[in-house]
Amino acid sequence: MAAKDKTYKGIYAMHKYWGKKPFNEISKFIERYTKAGDTVMDSFCGSGVTLIEALKADRKCVGVDLNPIAVKLAKVSMTTVDIDLLQQTFAAIREKLQGMINSLYEVELYGEKTLVTHTIWKDGEPLEVWYKTENAGKNIRQGTDIDIKMCNHPHIEPKWYPDSILYENSRINVGEGQKVSDLFTPRALVGLSWILDEIQKIQDENIRNVFELTLTGTLSQTSNLVFVIRGRKRNKEAEPRAEVGSWVVGYWVPEEHFEINVWNCFENRFKRILKGEAEIRELFSHRPEGYFQRDVRLFNGTATAIPIEDNSVDYVFIDPPHANRILYMEQSLMWNAWLKLDKEIDWKDEIVISEAKDRREKNTEDYNRLLSQAFAEIKRVLKPNQYFSMAFNCLDDNTWMDTLNLFTRYGFEIADITPLEYSATSVIQDNRKNALKTDFVLTFKNADARLQQIMFKKDDVLLEAKIRKILKKHPEYEVYNVMNALFEEGIPEGYIFQVSHIVKKCAELMKG
Ligand SMILES: C[S@@+](CC[C@H](N)C(=O)[O-])C[C@H]1O[C@@H](n2cnc3c(N)ncnc32)[C@H](O)[C@@H]1O
Repeated sequence: MAAKDKTYKGIYAMHKYWGKKPFNEISKFIERYTKAGDTVMDSFCGSGVTLIEALKADRKCVGVDLNPIAVKLAKVSMTTVDIDLLQQTFAAIREKLQGMINSLYEVELYGEKTLVTHTIWKDGEPLEVWYKTENAGKNIRQGTDIDIKMCNHPHIEPKWYPDSILYENSRINVGEGQKVSDLFTPRALVGLSWILDEIQKIQDENIRNVFELTLTGTLSQTSNLVFVIRGRKRNKEAEPRAEVGSWVVGYWVPEEHFEINVWNCFENRFKRILKGEAEIRELFSHRPEGYFQRDVRLFNGTATAIPIEDNSVDYVFIDPPHANRILYMEQSLMWNAWLKLDKEIDWKDEIVISEAKDRREKNTEDYNRLLSQAFAEIKRVLKPNQYFSMAFNCLDDNTWMDTLNLFTRYGFEIADITPLEYSATSVIQDNRKNALKTDFVLTFKNADARLQQIMFKKDDVLLEAKIRKILKKHPEYEVYNVMNALFEEGIPEGYIFQVSHIVKKCAELMKG
């Protein structure tokens, strides 16, 4: 599959979520380990990729995630809505709000009404204003005192907006007492709060959910987190023009940032959501009425206490948080707060390592304890002799050891280690030297293997001999095939070689 085909589109492009796994890769595992009608569970379901792929393949699914916005996104991504009603609802919101919100950005210039689309702010000063006029099209001008006044003292009062306090954490650039509302200009708060107010009046729950996600999907682009890219030229002659950056991670408000017209952002996001909704209809509308209630069980809760019966799941695929890599809940607070979902979060249950000042208990010990509880739950609900796959990306020897020991502690038996290709849009690439540029998927069988502790075998001579033997028999093998072979042989015997040593030795031997 070409890289461009792997970028997320349609259903998977509706809303950002960190750590989405490539759907086409996940579907291969579902096909491999289950049959139609089986139940697939992902107890860290995030935006729901596993569940959507399961449903596409005529399986049933169980999804759990602690993050309310993730569960809402997963739900919306599996629910068909009436597209006409969706469009009518958007038209009604536009009718009511477009003119009003745009009036926050309208400036008279030489007797003509102009609409500001983008402002570049630096230290509270409007450096550059991009605007358009009915007659002359798009243009750029310097900012003036009028722009400052219009932005900081909008002529319309805001409706409700969140003032939740973000967790102070330098890793994601949150300072003491920083609020969600501090991420937006007063003008953006007015526009967004009026849109939210209108969305909350929508009667149909499914349609309302779609618009709630349209709003949260709009937040990053309407916030002060949008940095300015400078220096790229369109062609040799052209002056380098400022370009709009996009939010990736953290709450860093750059010294120089964009402020983008709220209505434009909302409308553009709606167009993108509409494409996703069309795909959802295409995928699921052939299903008999009530398929969601019958085939999908989705819980906003913790993977350490899943409200389903013992031995009721045929296959588990999980992609749990990797230690401190992404602070899912802290990062999602901007979204959850706007939908008033932040009060429901059970922060103490999050499986994460966080450096936040008020989350000191979120350390390695807590992480390991909760992840182990999540494994115990998987053991309880998975039918005997069925399979359990986990996405994993790490080259640290001890983390490999801890993870493999988690599986063996619950009697799981190793079945397969497969590399999982990164999605083209993943930003969490592992760029360290010698890194294998893949995630792995570790698959284990729910057997009753004898409980045992795996130990490192630190014998490089033996390792080299084993790799030579494997490569002699299979010269076509890549590093992961060698790892697989070594693990399959070693784990039942209670040992593994250090992954870093395997990678190094393979590099040496494969070169020669
Ligand atoms: C790597 S992400 C999963 C992303 C997912 N594969 C997707 O396609 O979007 C890990 C998820 O674990 C969730 N999480 C963290 N602690 C949890 C817990 N105790 N129970 C359930 N989910 C949890 C996070 O909210 C996050 O959505």
